Amino acid sequence: MSKNNFMPFDGGIDPDDIGNNTSPNESIQDVLNARMSRRSLLRGGVGGAGLAFLGSFGLTACGGGSDAPTVSTPPPATPTETLLGFNPVAKSLADLFSVPAGYTASVIYACGDPLFNGVAAAKNDGTDTDYDQRSGDCHDGMEYFGLSAAGAPDANASDRALLGINHEYITPVFLHASGPTANPRPVDEADKEIDCHGVAIVEVKKTAGKFAVVQDSTFNRRITPNTVIELSGAARGNDLMKTQFSTDGTQTRGTLNNCGTGKTPWGTLLTGEENWAGYFTRGAADNAARGNDKTVASLNRYGRAQGAASRYGWQTAGADDRFARWVNSKTGASADGTDDYRNEMNGQGYLTEIDPYNKSVAIKKRTSLGRFAHEGAAFSRPVVGKPLAVYMGDDSQGEYVYKWVSTETWIESDATATNRIATGDKYLDVGKLYVAKYKPDGSGEWIELTFSNPLISGYVTYAFADQADVVVNARLAADAVGATKMDRPEWCATSPTTGEVYFTMTNNSSRNAGTVDAANPRAYSDTKGAATQSGNVHGHIIRMAETGDDPAATGFRWDVFLFGAEETSPAGVNLSGLTAINDFSSPDGLAFTPSTGICWIQTDDGAYTDVTNCMMLAALPGKVGDGSTKTVISGATTLNTYVGKEASPTTLKRFLVGPKQQEITGICESPDGKAIFVNVQHPGENTTAADLPDPTKYGSRWPANAGYGAGQRPRSATVVITKDDGGRIGS
Ligand code: FEO
Ligand code: CA
Ligand code: CA
Ligand code: CA
Repeated sequence: MSKNNFMPFDGGIDPDDIGNNTSPNESIQDVLNARMSRRSLLRGGVGGAGLAFLGSFGLTACGGGSDAPTVSTPPPATPTETLLGFNPVAKSLADLFSVPAGYTASVIYACGDPLFNGVAAAKNDGTDTDYDQRSGDCHDGMEYFGLSAAGAPDANASDRALLGINHEYITPVFLHASGPTANPRPVDEADKEIDCHGVAIVEVKKTAGKFAVVQDSTFNRRITPNTVIELSGAARGNDLMKTQFSTDGTQTRGTLNNCGTGKTPWGTLLTGEENWAGYFTRGAADNAARGNDKTVASLNRYGRAQGAASRYGWQTAGADDRFARWVNSKTGASADGTDDYRNEMNGQGYLTEIDPYNKSVAIKKRTSLGRFAHEGAAFSRPVVGKPLAVYMGDDSQGEYVYKWVSTETWIESDATATNRIATGDKYLDVGKLYVAKYKPDGSGEWIELTFSNPLISGYVTYAFADQADVVVNARLAADAVGATKMDRPEWCATSPTTGEVYFTMTNNSSRNAGTVDAANPRAYSDTKGAATQSGNVHGHIIRMAETGDDPAATGFRWDVFLFGAEETSPAGVNLSGLTAINDFSSPDGLAFTPSTGICWIQTDDGAYTDVTNCMMLAALPGKVGDGSTKTVISGATTLNTYVGKEASPTTLKRFLVGPKQQEITGICESPDGKAIFVNVQHPGENTTAADLPDPTKYGSRWPANAGYGAGQRPRSATVVITKDDGGRIGS
């Protein structure tokens, strides 16, 4: 999500850029320890020991043995194939989607495209309606679910599949003929905007070597903010979940602001609900209406102070319940919230599980995995007899990295279970939720968020009642145990070759010399034209290796795989040695393609966009500890961090650059590795309603300028990329 696509009347603020974490997390002892180790490192004492440890760890942690994963390992490269053998794409400000020579990119699914028979082709002029039967807007995370010729789930199918695609939010200016109307919102505009959100299940099929959407597929489906969804796990039925819509607290409507995704080992989609708080408004006197009870602390911590405006003003469209629900104030007289929507916001902020193959089973919010601004969900490699871990990030300034560990251990037959949502019940409702603490010596600790922890049950800022309260207010529980405040954890991904987990820390304009730590070590300034930006301007990618390669480990080692930077950045900023062929800023989307083990890095940037549009890079990473200790100076603060091996032309290359004013996000591949699907989100997002009559004033005209579809307005879209020689993508 970028900062520009908000209504002209909402202040235009990117919710990702608003920190709501005022907790002082680093404990005094941590600070003392850090200072001591910094001094030691400057003397060379701990530094050498740390390196020695990392070296021996690297030799022992990834050696396979009896815990070898049950997932298939990537097929060996063919003799003629060199991964990252392509010619890198140059940085560009052109309004084009550029891929390396020898590759072809084709748009297959753009905002407004029909998903059902009888729905008219998109006119793309702001007059299209019925978006609950069309592609939503702002394509984001995406997963591939193979289909056999007979239409059955088939994890190996490479020419027919269902794509599960998030439609994160909207570009209001292009959805309406003359742009959006200010509050009070017309009903038809509000309904259209609501329907543009959510998730799409879309069948794609390869015919004569080309993938296309199957418009009449019986699998096609839209899930919108109006879709009824079951609450599952620890918070189901809890008082915190009771609303006028669900007086027993077991259901809510919709999944909202869907950003990153995950694919479960049993073949379902996990969709992450990110900046949902901004859709709700809260009355200016709501604290008093609530009797200044503890819910006020919860609402504040999740970004809804009293008087907060809603992003799109849907609650102004009328008295109907589908609009009234966005008022998150106590307006009723009940003690339990069953006569209003004071608790409605507690129904958003989860990983929501959808069975893409079966429309008739319930969609479930997996509340036990915590409520926050979810991005992706990366599973540990399934190992028979071991629990499954799910890694998760909370994207807001100073928020945390989380892990879920199932109580049940993995059974191979569950990979092909026919009742996939019941399998989700098994692995995603019962288990332990942890938050990460990164230590200055390169180690880390997973701290369980459990009501039985006295730091949580005795927390003075918020009086937790039970475990349901802990998962619904996971941020507050993580505050209580002193988790590490990170530089906006975006997506995460697990390496199919090493099992290590990678997290993008996209950037943090609030990081400063007084708050840097070893895992978020940079605070500096960078110019963009006449403007100066500061903080961790370009972001970084941290990676973690669980102790003993065990998904249930409570300890890990970490280093920084790559620091984002510009090729001209000073050496103290460009710590990974990026050059013209691989420099980047604001890593966001992140995924490994299982067929090749390539790590794909996508950017959502506002710092380097004077030089280049957002992009995607391909990396062949090593593992934690393959680099060195480096000293980072931020203002008056000097500290040490652990940096992975420097990037080189054989390990990191720019693979594509997108059109103007967009971000590249979402990636999945066909199992044969010969096609990847990538999303372009919000091209031309800086366009204003005043520009609409003159297409030459649009911030972008893609994909119309690439020959796709009607009209001239830019559209978020899914692109399929193939190699002209039929080879695997990234070779
Ligand atoms: Fe939807 Fe944090 O990006
Ligand atoms: Ca982002
Ligand atoms: Ca994102
Ligand atoms: Ca710059």
